[in-house]
Amino acid sequence: MSLLQDLRTQWSEKSSAWLIRRNTMLGPARIQNLSRLAQRIEDEQIPGDVVECGVYRGGSAAILARRATHSRLARTVWLFDAFQGMPPATASDGPEAGSWVGNLRSSPRRVERLLRRTGANMSRVRIVPGLFQETFRATHIAQIALLNIDADWYESVKLCLETFYDAVAPGGIVSVDDYGLWPGCRQAVDEFIQNRQLAIRMERVDETAGWFQKN
Ligand SMILES: C[S@@+](CC[C@H](N)C(=O)[O-])C[C@H]1O[C@@H](n2cnc3c(N)ncnc32)[C@H](O)[C@@H]1O
Repeated sequence: MSLLQDLRTQWSEKSSAWLIRRNTMLGPARIQNLSRLAQRIEDEQIPGDVVECGVYRGGSAAILARRATHSRLARTVWLFDAFQGMPPATASDGPEAGSWVGNLRSSPRRVERLLRRTGANMSRVRIVPGLFQETFRATHIAQIALLNIDADWYESVKLCLETFYDAVAPGGIVSVDDYGLWPGCRQAVDEFIQNRQLAIRMERVDETAGWFQKN
């Protein structure tokens, strides 16, 4: 690689990292972890698509898409969000949840622009706007290598797991951004693990996020 090409690559990496930081609620440890998980499914050749539930401005989606849309395994990256602000919470989500309802509005257009600017191949990205309760029913994803759930509320997280877990490939990864933050999210995950009697080991990223690999 020539010096000029090398400088161009370095500049593009720095500018993508800056754009991602500006468009995500994830802190540095969770950004780095998601990036590692996106690389891990390549290193371990886990077949299937990448699914994110809870996109907001697209920062975490960009981390996943800039890697997965160039995979030799021809992955599609599916991005689900209402983009209308957080939907109503329930009692399981705790007293703090109410103040977030209606916050975090964004748009598919904004996400698309970010993904383009951070190097995703947009022909392999599907942005699916709408409430999960409606969009999941109308979508079929045969196999999933990485399921990233960043949807905060009990009902949302429960539906993500119920809809997509069975499609996660053996060795595939389930990442839950709010496992240690929102009580409803943790409850939905713990109940799912218990009901299915899953022998998984939850890896913790920081006090907020967790992930596990399907057996
Ligand atoms: C914390 S934000 C996602 C943050 C994002 N991953 C990032 O990188 O900053 C949570 C998102 O989940 C979405 N969401 C939660 N429950 C939903 C539901 N039932 N249907 C559609 N979107 C939902 C909200 O619209 C919101 O954009």
